Amino acid sequence: MTITVLTLFPDMIRAIARESILGRALKAGLFRLEVVDIRDFSGNRYGKVDDALFGGGTGMLMMCQPVYDAHQKALQDGPSPARTIYLSPKGAPLTQGKVEALSGESHLVLLCGHYEGIDQRVLDAVADEEISIGDYVLTGGELAAMVVVDAVARRIPGVLPDAAAYENESHADGLLEHPQYTRPSEWMGRSVPPVLLSGHHARIVEWKRRMSLVETLRKRPDLLASASLSEDDLLALEEEIRMGGSSPK
Ligand code: ADE
Repeated sequence: MTITVLTLFPDMIRAIARESILGRALKAGLFRLEVVDIRDFSGNRYGKVDDALFGGGTGMLMMCQPVYDAHQKALQDGPSPARTIYLSPKGAPLTQGKVEALSGESHLVLLCGHYEGIDQRVLDAVADEEISIGDYVLTGGELAAMVVVDAVARRIPGVLPDAAAYENESHADGLLEHPQYTRPSEWMGRSVPPVLLSGHHARIVEWKRRMSLVETLRKRPDLLASASLSEDDLLALEEEIRMGGSSPK
C-alpha cells in the first residue's frame, strides 16, 4: 500500500512517521509513505498558496491550482486506483470499520487543509470523501492525516509483531477491550484479578468477555446497540445492570 500526504507542513508528517512502529514498518518496506509539499506547486516565486475569501470573512483559503497540481503529482507517482480523502471537521467520523475499509486500498491520498480550509471547487474535483477524526477543530489536517495513517498502517500484515494483537482489541467486535495486567501480581495493595493467575483457560476467556461487556457498559454504552451480542452476553449485561456496575477508583 502507498499513502501520499498532501500538505503545507511536510515536516509534521515526517516527524511522526519516523518514530516507533510506523518508523519500523516504513524501514521494513511494509508500506510506502510519500509526502507532497503543496507549496512546491504554488506556481509563483513567493510560494503563495492562499488568498482572502470571496464574500468576506476572516482568514485565508488555500487556492485551487496548487492543491490540484500537488494532487496530480500524487496520482502520477503512486499506484492506481487512488482514493483521495480530505481531512476536515465536516467529514464523516473515522471509525474502526472505516479504517478497515481504507486498509484494503492500494493508494490513499490524504489531503490536509490549513488556515480557513481549501477552495470548494478543488475539493469537488479531487476528493472522494471527507473524514473527521472527531467533533473538534484542529489547526490543520496534518494530525488528523497521521491518525488515519497510524490506524490504517497497524492493519497491514507484519506492522504489528503479532497479528493476534488486534483480535480482542477495542472496537474489533464493536466492544471495548477488557482491562489488562502485568507483573507484579500485587502492587500498592491492588491485586490482579485471581482468575487471570488461575491457568484455567475457559474461565479466563469467559472473564475477558464479561469484562469487555462491563467496560463497554460503563464507558461507551452507546456501542452496545450495534455490537453483536449472544444470549449469554445479554444475560451478563442484565446482571451487571442489576448489580449497579460500580466503577473502580
Ligand atoms: N481538520 C481540522 N479539524 C479536523 C478534524 N476534527 N478532523 C479532521 N481534520 C480536521
